[in-house]
Amino acid sequence: MPKSWTPTSWREKPIVQVPDYPDLAKLLDVERELASYPPLVFAGECRALEAKLAAVGDGRAFLLQGGDCAESFEEHGPNNIRDFLRVFLQMSVVLTYQAATPIVKVGRLAGQFAKPRSSSTETVDGISLPSYRGDIVNGPAFTAEDRTPDPVRMLKAYRQSAATLNFTRALMGGGYASLGNAHKWMLDFLKVSPQWKPYADLAERIERAMEFMRACGVDPEHHPELKATDMFTSHEALLLGYEEALTRRDSTQPDEPYVATSGHMIWIGDRTRQPDHAHVEFCRGVLNPIGLKCGPSLQPDELVRLVGALNPDNRKGKLTLIARFGAEKVEKHLPALVEAVTREGLNVVWSCDPMHGNTVTMNARKTRPFDLIRREIQSFFDVHQSAGTIPGGIHLEMTGKNVTECTGGLVPVTADALGDRYDTACDPRLNAEQALELAFLVADMLRKRRVAAEAARVAAE
Ligand code: PEP
Ligand code: CO
Repeated sequence: MPKSWTPTSWREKPIVQVPDYPDLAKLLDVERELASYPPLVFAGECRALEAKLAAVGDGRAFLLQGGDCAESFEEHGPNNIRDFLRVFLQMSVVLTYQAATPIVKVGRLAGQFAKPRSSSTETVDGISLPSYRGDIVNGPAFTAEDRTPDPVRMLKAYRQSAATLNFTRALMGGGYASLGNAHKWMLDFLKVSPQWKPYADLAERIERAMEFMRACGVDPEHHPELKATDMFTSHEALLLGYEEALTRRDSTQPDEPYVATSGHMIWIGDRTRQPDHAHVEFCRGVLNPIGLKCGPSLQPDELVRLVGALNPDNRKGKLTLIARFGAEKVEKHLPALVEAVTREGLNVVWSCDPMHGNTVTMNARKTRPFDLIRREIQSFFDVHQSAGTIPGGIHLEMTGKNVTECTGGLVPVTADALGDRYDTACDPRLNAEQALELAFLVADMLRKRRVAAEAARVAAE
């Protein structure tokens, strides 16, 4: 643990993006109550994720991170969670099979509630109210009652996270995620989609391979890696009072570092990454793998300073840099950051968030064109190809539902159709079909990278 860090040391630092709670005594009561609740995740799981991310950093695995922009209290049904996990498993299988690479699966789920906002108030027809900051803080309706931050919401978010995590663990470990089920993960509405055929073909090939292995005596019943899979949780560590209350140390091992037990991986958003501020202070002291969003305003020397603070021991897999520039800006900004990190010999995982730099407004709705999302990932791969570094993963906002929030895709969502099923509590998400299409495209990028690396190796011999 770094010197002079404690779970509360962030309170001494400047902080941005904090809700204005009208009743501070109630806030303290809730934080005290949360601190008495059981942890959601354990240190050993966080260490296992770090080891997997270390493999990603070395190019031996690929990180797939995704989920809602913001989880909501209203959308907490089992169907939502299961449908998301189904598409996520499908994407993972597509990537594993087509690119012959193990996939590290990290959901934006079971804790992804708090949202940073560009403005602390919203004005409609001359009336100004606090901005919506996610269901863990206040409600989305434009009424004074809903928009007043209420700390009791943290208790509900905690319980929802616990239930989501429990359901996820059951689905991932209880046989549903068995590779033999790859066929069954197809969502009904995808069966009439152009994604159906390539995916069904792939599921068929996997089934044959499983039959072959069974015939050779390798049975899923005796090989848990074919029957169950690891799924980790992640969210933005924005609401630090909540994070602090769930930050624990094993009382039997007082020399071990503290763990943020709210989720396996936590990340620092692009708006809260000031090196001397509270969010960096909190994240630098916990054992969990940390993500850091890197947007266009981040300078190379500042990044080097941040990496030094967040990963002082230069551990592999500890820190994931999540580039989110926008398709038009990647080639301008990313090379200097990659160069600085490489020059300093810093171990990081590079991942690409192609969502947050590509938000545009069409027909008065926030959306993201599929083609910009694809192009940002392609440019991210190209920059790493030129630099000789590893494009380690992608970070997506997506859902298993058939929403119309991002435009484009093979069965294009048009700007005019955006209003049909625009359900997001915050930013526009890829729907199931768009997410699966992207998985095939990224698998292709990964495969080409492997073929090029192999060709270079042979040429050098
Ligand atoms: C997010 O991931 O939901 C987010 C707000 O991202 P960023 O901090 O990169 O804008
Ligand atoms: Co978002």
